[in-house]
Amino acid sequence: MDNFTFCSPTLFAFGRGEERRTGELVRKSGGSRVLLHYGGGSIKRSGLYDRVMAALHEQGLSVCELGGVRPNPRSGLVYEGIALARRERVDFVLAVGGGSVIDSAKAIAAGAVYEGDFLDFYKGKIVTSSLPVGVVLTIPAAGSEGSPNTVITNEKTGVKKGGRGEVLRPRFAVLNPELCFTLPPYQSASGATDMMAHVLERYFTTTQNVELTDRLCEAVLLTVMSELPKVLRDPTDYDAQANLMWAGTVAHNNSCGVGRTQDWGSHALEHQLSALYDVAHGAGLAVMFPAWMRYVCHRDTARFVKLATRVFGCEENTADPMSTALEGIDRFVAFLRSVGMPTTFGEIGAREQDIPRMVELMGVSEEKKVGVFFPMGPRDVEAIYRLAL
Ligand code: NZQ
Ligand code: ZN
Repeated sequence: MDNFTFCSPTLFAFGRGEERRTGELVRKSGGSRVLLHYGGGSIKRSGLYDRVMAALHEQGLSVCELGGVRPNPRSGLVYEGIALARRERVDFVLAVGGGSVIDSAKAIAAGAVYEGDFLDFYKGKIVTSSLPVGVVLTIPAAGSEGSPNTVITNEKTGVKKGGRGEVLRPRFAVLNPELCFTLPPYQSASGATDMMAHVLERYFTTTQNVELTDRLCEAVLLTVMSELPKVLRDPTDYDAQANLMWAGTVAHNNSCGVGRTQDWGSHALEHQLSALYDVAHGAGLAVMFPAWMRYVCHRDTARFVKLATRVFGCEENTADPMSTALEGIDRFVAFLRSVGMPTTFGEIGAREQDIPRMVELMGVSEEKKVGVFFPMGPRDVEAIYRLAL
């Protein structure tokens, strides 16, 4: 196991009705002038907006608001949010929604106290200072409620890139599984696929003898695969939603990833799909992750066999480990298809002729490869996109 430092300072308020504590939690985090940030309207339709507003006003907090975050959040609204935050002298940014809203809130929080262009943080500059951010989560998926990351699409260039900084981990996150009852099945399945991808990016490691985190990864994968079908059958199944919601946080707050190298190549491959076709991030991962696995499984076949036998229930063929590895990947694809996820370019409207553009957007070269378990150069990237056709 590698040396590591791990600090996950987020307070999680989990369970029914916990959103009523939002005002109290903002106060305890030192906020008094709040920017409430949200998406395209689901929180108004569900009544959550009114409950959160009431909780904020109950504590005498001053509130301004900015809605309209779209999935795969854009830079334009972030600039608006930064200007609003400065004008209103906001000292706390509250995200009510999913990963897109949280990431946009993090960008505003970092940009509001930065003199340069906030997009610098999406070109490699680490965020070291930011307004505090709080979250009321409405979809278990991206794990942004417990992560130090944010992903934004630059509207001018069409490039979707991640930024990070430990200060971006939210001060608190309210997780009420009942808030997920209104999720369309496709969003639940995309979210769960994203969780599986977050675990797999960590599972495929070059670090040896990391049994605890391997087992934690496997537990999260098995849980997602048992709970998602229940949620798809009955979105009001509280316990299934609850297990899925906590799985989404654990999958990405790095408890499963400490002390080991992580890959992250599949996420980079996916970001070009969501940037070009505005596809849901999880759906893009359902297309790219299996393609990546097929391309790299010779790199450490034993690790793929471990996944196949422990998670996908394959019998190990000791005479031909590769056949077990490939069967595991097939079973992963079958699971994704069973929950309504696309697994090919055609199903998400992606086009073969755009592959050169995607390779270019990835920004890789022979000298600057992406991924750790399998460092990808431009030829690898192109070949993996072709495997997803
Ligand atoms: O905008 P509204 O009207 O709220 O509708 C949203 C949106 O259309 C809807 N929704 C959310 N909660 C709902 C609901 N509809 C009904 N009932 C509810 N309770 O769901 C749609 C998708 O929301 P979005 O926030 O885009 O989903 P998700 O949480 O999957 O976030 C995806 C974004 O997160 C980024 C992705 O790249 C993508 O841009 N990621 C962020 C990460 C991070 N910050 O750590 C890591 C991830 O790997 C990921 O890259
Ligand atoms: Zn993801």
